[in-house]
Amino acid sequence: MTMSLRSLRHVAVAAGAVSLLALASHAQAQRFSAAELAAMDQKLIASVKRGYDLWYGARADMANNGLACANCHPDAAATNPHTFPKFMPMFNKVVPYRDMVNWCIETPQGGKALAANSEDMTALEAYSFYLHNGVKVETGLQARQTAGPTPANARGFAWKGTGIGFDK
Ligand code: HEC
Repeated sequence: MTMSLRSLRHVAVAAGAVSLLALASHAQAQRFSAAELAAMDQKLIASVKRGYDLWYGARADMANNGLACANCHPDAAATNPHTFPKFMPMFNKVVPYRDMVNWCIETPQGGKALAANSEDMTALEAYSFYLHNGVKVETGLQARQTAGPTPANARGFAWKGTGIGFDK
């Protein structure tokens, strides 16, 4: 009697473990519902759009000369997010992407640097990184830095406050 109870318990424990495992892998596969995933995607796209607006000059304090990122980096061109962190001679050290963003805000644009952990900085990163989706990450490759954008497109673009302007 005792034996059979014990073995029954073993069977029950084993069965429980198996169903727990099954539940866990099920939960893993369906950790988020389609609706939850869509809501998360929306948040990402909202940040990308905010980045787009900033890229086109939505924040006046980011420049004192009317320039915006898009003048020199239309569609995030020549920003190479996939090559950061990398050694930049001008800093004489390895820097993250956001240090270059702030360098461009302060130097060519004569504006006020963004706090590194601000939502605006994240949005600028979101915009540029999003446009580089699928590009191979090749961190540290200084060689991948372009010769340097020039304000050839300066003051030519129409700032559109909505839309991202790429294929999503
Ligand atoms: C007047 C033109 C101009 C504007 C406006 C400008 N940049 Fe730049 N940007 C440059 C130049 C020039 C470089 C190259 C600097 C160097 O390495 O000597 C550069 C480099 C960069 C890089 C590094 C690219 C690499 O591969 O190393 C990033 C990132 C960047 N800019 C982001 C931005 C962002 C974001 C803005 C807007 C906040 C902005 N830039 C505005 C001219 C500009």
